[in-house]
Amino acid sequence: MLRRVVHGCAWMFATSCAGPQSALAPAGRDAHAIAVLLAWMAGGSLLIWLGVMGAAVYATRAERTRERATAKRFIVLGGVVLPTGTLTVLLIFGLSMMPDLLAAGPAGAPRVAVSAERYWWRLTYDTPHGPVETANELRLPVGQRTTLRLTSPDVVHSFWVPSLAGKVDTIPGRETHLAIEPTRLGTFRGTCAEYCGGAHAQMAFTVVVQRPEEHAAWIAAQARAAEPPQVAVARRGAEVFASHGCGACHTVRGTGADGTVGPDLTHVGGRRRVAGILPNDVDGFARFVRDPEAVKPEAEMPGFALLSDDELTALAHYLDALE
Ligand code: CUA
Repeated sequence: MLRRVVHGCAWMFATSCAGPQSALAPAGRDAHAIAVLLAWMAGGSLLIWLGVMGAAVYATRAERTRERATAKRFIVLGGVVLPTGTLTVLLIFGLSMMPDLLAAGPAGAPRVAVSAERYWWRLTYDTPHGPVETANELRLPVGQRTTLRLTSPDVVHSFWVPSLAGKVDTIPGRETHLAIEPTRLGTFRGTCAEYCGGAHAQMAFTVVVQRPEEHAAWIAAQARAAEPPQVAVARRGAEVFASHGCGACHTVRGTGADGTVGPDLTHVGGRRRVAGILPNDVDGFARFVRDPEAVKPEAEMPGFALLSDDELTALAHYLDALE
């Protein structure tokens, strides 16, 4: 029994320290700095705790042995001087890290505009091909400091990729900034860290860190218009997309669809996840389109339960083929 409990606890510790969304397994320059700060804060807290507890224990014993003067000195040292001194050192240490954490990328470094919508992320890359919009999947070149400019059209959200960098709020009417400098390749998970409404907990996104040449090729591919669907079922889906007015809210570059309310779907089939959280496959698309509310409560997209099963399947095939 005891063994099971120990194994259970060890497993919990091990899994919560690693994984694609952990500030304790840093994969970015800023996340490394924050992890170091956390270690110093934890060490400082332990020091204060030991000092205060030591003072308390000593004081209770000293009173009995009438060494009141010594006890008083111990309380002043352990209860006042030690905590104040330790906290001051930690404050100076923490503040000294700020300029580095707030530093933007150098001139010419990648730049991405992030708009936190209800309940998804609009990402617009500054590229040599002009601005390129995607959603819910941020791709970054490893070893480069990408500057993010963040805002929101309506409510406050908070942009956070724990493995890569610190957290910053997105505030309507204001632009906030965050720089991310990944130090290793991989796929990470970002999240909204400020309660924003029904689907706050589902407002996740993927961050893919690539080699710079892979990233440049990916940007070039994203800048291209959508390929016309090749297979019959997807062509039928394109007709469903057009006839049900999906283009009023969504853009598919290269077609007549140019809505800007919802995510740009030009290459939606090539993303890791549908709506940031569902598997990217035909089922994922069908599930979301039929009833977005069931996947993301209070989502602004209406459900399309009126579509027949055939229409829904065709539409899902079309979206899945938009790679
Ligand atoms: Cu967006 Cu919480």
